[in-house]
Amino acid sequence: MKKIQCVILGYGDRSSRYAEYAKTKPEELEIIGVIDVNDLKLQQAKQAFGLSDACLYKSLEEFLQKDVRCDVVINGTMDQLHYVTTMPLLEKGYNILLEKPVTANPKELLEIEAKAKNCKVVICHVLRYTPFYSKIKSIIDSGKIGKIVSLQLNEHVWYGHFVNSYVRGKWRSEKECGSGLLLAKCCHDTDLMCWLNNATDPYMVSSFGTKSFFTENNAPQGATQYCYECPNQKSCMFNAEKFQIEKDFIPFYTWAGINKPLDTITLEEKREFLKKDTYGQCVFKTDMDIVDRQCVSVQFANGSIGTLNMIGGTSAAGRHIHVVCEYGEVVGYIEENKIIVRVFDKENVCYTQSVIDFSAENDLSEEDNSVGGHYGGDYYIMKDLVRFLNGEKTSVATTVISDSVNSHLICYAAEKARKEKLIVDLRKEYQR
Ligand SMILES: NC(=O)c1ccc[n+]([C@@H]2O[C@H](COP(=O)([O-])OP(=O)(O)OC[C@H]3O[C@@H](n4cnc5c(N)ncnc54)[C@H](O)[C@@H]3O)[C@@H](O)[C@H]2O)c1
Repeated sequence: MKKIQCVILGYGDRSSRYAEYAKTKPEELEIIGVIDVNDLKLQQAKQAFGLSDACLYKSLEEFLQKDVRCDVVINGTMDQLHYVTTMPLLEKGYNILLEKPVTANPKELLEIEAKAKNCKVVICHVLRYTPFYSKIKSIIDSGKIGKIVSLQLNEHVWYGHFVNSYVRGKWRSEKECGSGLLLAKCCHDTDLMCWLNNATDPYMVSSFGTKSFFTENNAPQGATQYCYECPNQKSCMFNAEKFQIEKDFIPFYTWAGINKPLDTITLEEKREFLKKDTYGQCVFKTDMDIVDRQCVSVQFANGSIGTLNMIGGTSAAGRHIHVVCEYGEVVGYIEENKIIVRVFDKENVCYTQSVIDFSAENDLSEEDNSVGGHYGGDYYIMKDLVRFLNGEKTSVATTVISDSVNSHLICYAAEKARKEKLIVDLRKEYQR
């Protein structure tokens, strides 16, 4: 197997995790260059991969001018930059591992899909690659329990994560980030729906959702814009001093705006930062313009149906799936690493049940686990990518960009349906 030479575009949280694969499997992947507009990120990448200054690029334009040869570019820039950075790379024929969401609008999505015809473009739908969802896919594809009748998915976003990323963090504003909550958080789930059910295409979509908890009217009496001066500091569970400093939830998001290596940031710098940044604001008063709950219903062309419930701010994180097929069903919570398979027992007019436990399969070595998270999905997508680029057999998870289009169209359609209070016909809306 040939060693894959890779350039990173945007050495932020996500890309730096994928790049760890080059450390754990140096015989498979080599990082040969990094492009980032932030000098600190370039220096961190230089140190992590022993790169020379000539392999650091301050902009995509600089990289493109140098005609660097590599097997793949990992595009880990933020959502709103995916289109403008991916199109010139495709123009030059680069293969790309592109973070999700591909883009926030259908026109750009279909343009990227069309442009990608001669390149290999894999989207980071990392959940597909986990042993849990891969197993569900292979059970369904085996045909033993018949065709899919219905897919029910739930995503509960734990309140620590929700507050950090979607109330105070960089995904809180659709206006700024480009993506609403559904696209940013749940295009994984709509992808699972379409990938598991890829014998057909989504057809009609409806959706409801609101922002009803993280609103000004739920703020405690006398609450101020910033927590540091609020009279409710002691009683409020979201107080920024406790939430962001004491508990230090997801520090690489919270302190990114200070633009210093995390371990060098002082307590004083953090407190000063919270006096000015959204991370220090009352969760009921930020400029969050996205929903905190949403449900989506999908009618597929072959008559199967799908539902997704997304709740932001739950006590525990949880992704649940229940796929009902003609002759059986598959049920599971990914957090439990187990799936239950029920099959019609035609002789006895009841059913048989088996439990498949993935705890051992998800038990990656400490080294392999350093390649991100997502129940092993970040590690397995890199493992598959190397094989895909080598033209070798890959898992059921690896597909080309066209297989990611439907998941995005469902998100766009659901947002239109929710905002405009209608049912969206994907064929009419997107001429697919
Ligand atoms: N697959 C998943 O499950 C998953 C999980 C979280 C985030 N994401 C997505 O991954 C992407 C990256 O998120 P992140 O949290 O790693 O972002 P980040 O902000 O940590 O990293 C982005 C990097 O891009 C750099 N950058 C900005 N503008 C640039 C430009 N013009 N050219 C080159 N570099 C530039 C920034 O300096 C930064 O280093 C986002 O689209 C996000 O939504 C995906």
